[in-house]
Amino acid sequence: MSSEMKKLNVLMCGTGEYTTGWTGSGASKSDKKIGVVGLTLFDLRRLGKVEKLGMVGTNGSKFPAIRKHLDENIAQVYTDMDTTFDAFPEGAVVDPEAYKAAIDKMSAGDAVVIFTPDSTHYPIALYAIERGIHVLVTKPAVQLLAHHNDLVAAAKKHNVVCFVEHHKRFDPVYSDARARAASLGEFNFFSAWMSQPKSQLETFRAWAGRDSDISYYLSSHHIDIHCWIMQDKAIPTRVTASAATGIATSEPYNCVPQTEDTITLLVDWQSLSSSKHKGTAVYTASWTAPMKSGVHSAQHWYYMAEKGEINVDQAHRGYDIVNDESGKAWYNPFYMKYSPSESGHFDGQRGYGYVSIEKFVDAARSVNAGLTTPADFDSHGLPTIANTVLTTAILHAGRISLDEKRPVNIKRSNDEWILE
Ligand SMILES: NC(=O)c1ccc[n+]([C@@H]2O[C@H](COP(=O)([O-])OP(=O)(O)OC[C@H]3O[C@@H](n4cnc5c(N)ncnc54)[C@H](O)[C@@H]3O)[C@@H](O)[C@H]2O)c1
Repeated sequence: MSSEMKKLNVLMCGTGEYTTGWTGSGASKSDKKIGVVGLTLFDLRRLGKVEKLGMVGTNGSKFPAIRKHLDENIAQVYTDMDTTFDAFPEGAVVDPEAYKAAIDKMSAGDAVVIFTPDSTHYPIALYAIERGIHVLVTKPAVQLLAHHNDLVAAAKKHNVVCFVEHHKRFDPVYSDARARAASLGEFNFFSAWMSQPKSQLETFRAWAGRDSDISYYLSSHHIDIHCWIMQDKAIPTRVTASAATGIATSEPYNCVPQTEDTITLLVDWQSLSSSKHKGTAVYTASWTAPMKSGVHSAQHWYYMAEKGEINVDQAHRGYDIVNDESGKAWYNPFYMKYSPSESGHFDGQRGYGYVSIEKFVDAARSVNAGLTTPADFDSHGLPTIANTVLTTAILHAGRISLDEKRPVNIKRSNDEWILE
């Protein structure tokens, strides 16, 4: 069957840390020195699933440095890896709407992957969907619940695949935990912690606290995992948020005054099968965690239900390295494995960061070949735009709760989720 499938043309929106590993201040010092999205798509082109690749940012003068970085760290490191791509805007041009010209050059059935600041996801995704282009948008899909509902409707109308890049759903531990949670009875309590070191406030200087917050940025991961575990079993009904402040807004970070350090959402859940079973969830995220803790992203959660509990610590997976200069560090090759294969090729095809992008490419190609319809992926439980509405509902309710200092209710009205 795969012989009927055509290669996919893909435009990458955003040229930052996640796409290329290149940030405004040089190569990223995080665990994503050569990025995730570009590398994965270059490898999928090598393996015959992808055809043309483009990249769009806002500032054309960054591309020479990005091309050099990709050539030195990918093309010259892995065998048979071609890192060329069409760039928009080309030359010393600054244009925040360059994505329009780039998308206008594409055809229906092509694909756009969006890894840009959170506040730009919605206009870019909508622009692409309305032109019949499949979309993979990073988390948080959008910041407003109404925008999420719009994208669900637009993707349906234009019959395109629209996935949210919730790669943690492809982490074997998280997906196994979800299957096991299904046999533990009614949900009772969930608590998640995710953090990154203060140095990220430098990397994300352009938008941190201004255009988005740490709850949208990091808690989106575990909120989505919890919503996925609860899918068709329970629904969130009320969100109350609280924030710690003072570190991001002080020396040396000096973020804008409204920047929070650590955000906690307290969420009430209602079982759909038993009116007396209610649960509580606490989702906390921070970008003022200590430096040199040995992990880039601390990430653990606890799930308790009627008949058992689950503990996951995905920052420490029984694999640590000590280096005389930098001390002890825990790496995560299960996400992105950068060490080459015995033949010198890229060898990270089983990492869940890679799998997440490959699943989207496979879905778009399968729809283009007429083998599946976009709606099929909703029933498969994949992170489609339709399957992730409640994740956005909780995040948006959390933002309103912080801004208006009140609890926010999540309700279903006329077949749509709304906030009150
Ligand atoms: N860095 C990570 O580890 C990571 C992991 C998962 C998801 N993400 C998500 O990816 C997105 C981007 O994150 P990042 O870490 O790469 O950020 P970044 O700040 O390093 O890069 C953002 C990029 O978007 C570009 N951009 C801004 N406005 C644009 C526009 N209008 N059109 C086209 N490009 C535009 C910028 O030029 C920059 O290249 C965020 O939504 C984030 O939540 C990041």
